[in-house]
Amino acid sequence: MIDPRTLPDLSDDDLRIAPLARAETIPARWYTDPAFHPFERDALFARWWQYVGHESQLPNPGDFVCADVAENPVIVVRDQAGALRAFYNVCRHRGGPLAMEPCGRLRKGVLQCRYHGWTYRLDGALRGVPRFDRTDLFDRDDYGLVPVTLASWEGLLFVRLADDGPPLGDLLDGIAERIAPMRPGTKTFFRRVTYDVACNWKVYVDNYLEGYHIPLVHPELCRVLDYRAYVTETARYHSLQYSPIRDGERQYGAAEGEAFYYFLFPNMMLNLLPGRLQVNLVEPLAPDRCRVIFDYLYDDATSPEARRVIERDLAFSDRVQEEDIEICEHVQRGLHSRAYDRGRFSVECEEGVYHFQCLLKEAYREALAEAAA
Ligand code: FES
Ligand SMILES: [Fe+2]
Repeated sequence: MIDPRTLPDLSDDDLRIAPLARAETIPARWYTDPAFHPFERDALFARWWQYVGHESQLPNPGDFVCADVAENPVIVVRDQAGALRAFYNVCRHRGGPLAMEPCGRLRKGVLQCRYHGWTYRLDGALRGVPRFDRTDLFDRDDYGLVPVTLASWEGLLFVRLADDGPPLGDLLDGIAERIAPMRPGTKTFFRRVTYDVACNWKVYVDNYLEGYHIPLVHPELCRVLDYRAYVTETARYHSLQYSPIRDGERQYGAAEGEAFYYFLFPNMMLNLLPGRLQVNLVEPLAPDRCRVIFDYLYDDATSPEARRVIERDLAFSDRVQEEDIEICEHVQRGLHSRAYDRGRFSVECEEGVYHFQCLLKEAYREALAEAAA
């Protein structure tokens, strides 16, 4: 639901889509005006599939993961029959949480509210209601947990708060074929690392979508990778930066093969190297703050040799990430300045950024049309 009273100022001119070679970047205001934060929450993050975790994090009945989706607490749980279910992590009594940890195993195999102890079956039905005998006209059937739409692809779990929208397959169309024989579904969750960044979430996404900044921002990475060999491919709702892996990169955990850097609209990345998958999610926390989640998954995370390679991979990713954070925080300050309104694109290097910004305009436009209806 888009609240027509709180729309940001968006002119037809701002929303127009020009060809890449003639296009301007989106206005600075879109990164700084606080009105975009609730608008994007409702127009983007509540409407699009949002990554919440990987199936390997919930192998057994009663295992759960929690996530924040468009500022709504969500819990995904594996039920007794082995199926995965998603609910708002919100008790129907007075809004308490069913779980407060990011992931784990439910106590006694039931969803018990951590506030006053109402219990729910794993299908969401309300079961136990302590000390409620004297409450009139109370029917437990009216107070089950509210379900959330859940879908999975290659072990990756996604939820969507909106009732309708494009199926998950539209977002991922063609990826499985393109990356074969690599399979995200064969990987096991290893670790989550999070970074808080003092920039608008779109600054971080823009930065991910181009290798143009590599020589200046990531000198060490630039020495081992031929960033000029990167190609960008775009699909309806995702884009790909792709490169063959050179010798030098192998020291960071990659075997010979190919590297795929996928961006899935609006805020998710899949970084695939042979044997390893890194999932990123960029969550807006405030108009000028975001949290970036890095989930690391590997084919083999147990042998001592694999662990050494993984620790190197994590340490290297962390250094690159710190470099990206520093530049993104500076960019946010630049966008706030009086000096900047909008810029232009390198046709050679910034097609991914342009593609993202076009999808953004399309989504904004749809939301405005809905608010006006
Ligand atoms: S809020 Fe859940 S039992 Fe009271
Ligand atoms: Fe970077």
